[in-house]
Amino acid sequence: MQNLKSLNVSGQRVLVRVDYNVPISGGVVQDDTRVTASLPTIRALLEAGARNVILMSHFGRPKNGPEEKYSLKPVAPVLEGVLGQPVTFIAGTADSDETLAAVQALPEGAVALLENVRFSAGEEKNDADLNARLARLGDAFVLDAFGSAHRAHSSVSGVAGLLPHAGGLLLEAEVTALGKLLNNPEHPYVVIIGGAKVSDKLLVIENLLPTVDRMLIGGGMAYTFVKAQGGKIGRSIHEDDFLDKARELLARYGEKIVLPTDTLVADAFSAEANTRVVPTAEIPDDWEGLDIGPDSREAFTQALAGAKTVFWNGPMGVFEFEKFAGGTNAIAQAVADLGEGTYSVIGGGDSVSAINKSGQADRVSHISTGGGASLELLEGKALPGVEAMK
Ligand code: 3PG
Ligand code: MG
Repeated sequence: MQNLKSLNVSGQRVLVRVDYNVPISGGVVQDDTRVTASLPTIRALLEAGARNVILMSHFGRPKNGPEEKYSLKPVAPVLEGVLGQPVTFIAGTADSDETLAAVQALPEGAVALLENVRFSAGEEKNDADLNARLARLGDAFVLDAFGSAHRAHSSVSGVAGLLPHAGGLLLEAEVTALGKLLNNPEHPYVVIIGGAKVSDKLLVIENLLPTVDRMLIGGGMAYTFVKAQGGKIGRSIHEDDFLDKARELLARYGEKIVLPTDTLVADAFSAEANTRVVPTAEIPDDWEGLDIGPDSREAFTQALAGAKTVFWNGPMGVFEFEKFAGGTNAIAQAVADLGEGTYSVIGGGDSVSAINKSGQADRVSHISTGGGASLELLEGKALPGVEAMK
C-alpha cells in the first residue's frame, strides 16, 4: 500500500476520504471514535505543509439526494473540538460547482468538511462522471476511511484513479492490525463471535476456523448451532436455512467450537421481561434466550485464559437491554484482563461500544473502526479501497 510518506502534499489541496458515519441522534454525535481516529492523518497532512485538508465522508444511506437528517453538519463542531482548530463545513452537494468554488476560496491551512457524499447520485455506482467532479476538489487523494474500504464507491476507490493517492495512517494501522489475525497469529488463538445471525458471520467463521484453536460462539447465532445439535431452543432466534451448515461445521471443527451451556431466557423480548437461567439445550417452549448464562460466562473466560491472540466481534446477548448485557460485559472484561501479553482485537460496533462503556478500551491492543470492513478483511477478501491504494 502506498503510504502518506510517499505522497508529496506540500502546498497541495488534499482530498481525504474519512468515515464519519457515526451515530447521530437529535443532531448530536453520540460517539466520536471515528472522528478522533481520523486526527493523526489530518495532523500529519497539515504538518507536511498541505495547503488544505478537505474531508469527505458518507453518513447513513440516503437514497434520494440531500436530506436534512443525513447531513454531516453535526460532525463539524465535534471535529473542531478534538482537532483544536476551526473546521469549515461546506453545505453544498460535494460534486457541485458551488462546493468547488468554496474549496478554492479556502485560506491556506484551512480544514474543511464536505456534505454527505452519498447525496450525489453516482456515489454508490462508482460513476465515472462523479469521480471526475470529486477529483476537481484536490491535487492529491488520501483514503483514511477504513470503515468504508469494502465499498467500491466513487469517494473511496473511484476518485483514487484520477489523483496521486495514498492510504492514510488509520487505514494503514487497521490493515496492519487486522492482518496480524490472518498472517501467522501467535497461538493459542481464540476468537469470540456473537451477534444475531449465523448468516452475517458465516464467511468469517469459515475462514478463521482452520487457523484458530478455539472459537466461542455466543449471541443469537448460538441457538442455530444448539438446534442443529438437537437441543430445544424455545422461541429463541435461529436460522433454519443454516442448520445443515452448522452441523457440517460442528462435525468438522467440533473440538474447537465452544457453545454456551446455559442461557438467560426471557418471557418476552423486552427490557422488563421476566428471566430465568436454563440449560441452553433445554429452553422452555414459550421462552427465548437473550444472553449467555453465568456458567457460560465463566467457561468463555476460562477458554480465553492464556490466549496469545484474540479477536472478538459481536455481542453475547441483547445488550441494549441492561438485563441482557451481562454476557457481553463479561467478555469485554475478560478480553481486557488478558493484558499486555495477548494481542487482542475488537471489531464491530456493538462489541466496540461494550468495551468503550466498560472503560477498558485502552487495555485492548486494537479496536477497529470498521464493522463490515473488518469482517470482509477477515473473510480473506480484498477490500476495493485498500486495493486502490496499491
Ligand atoms: C459502517 O458504518 O459500517 C461504514 O461506515 C459503512 O457504511 P455502509 O454499510 O452504509 O456502507
Ligand atoms: Mg493505485
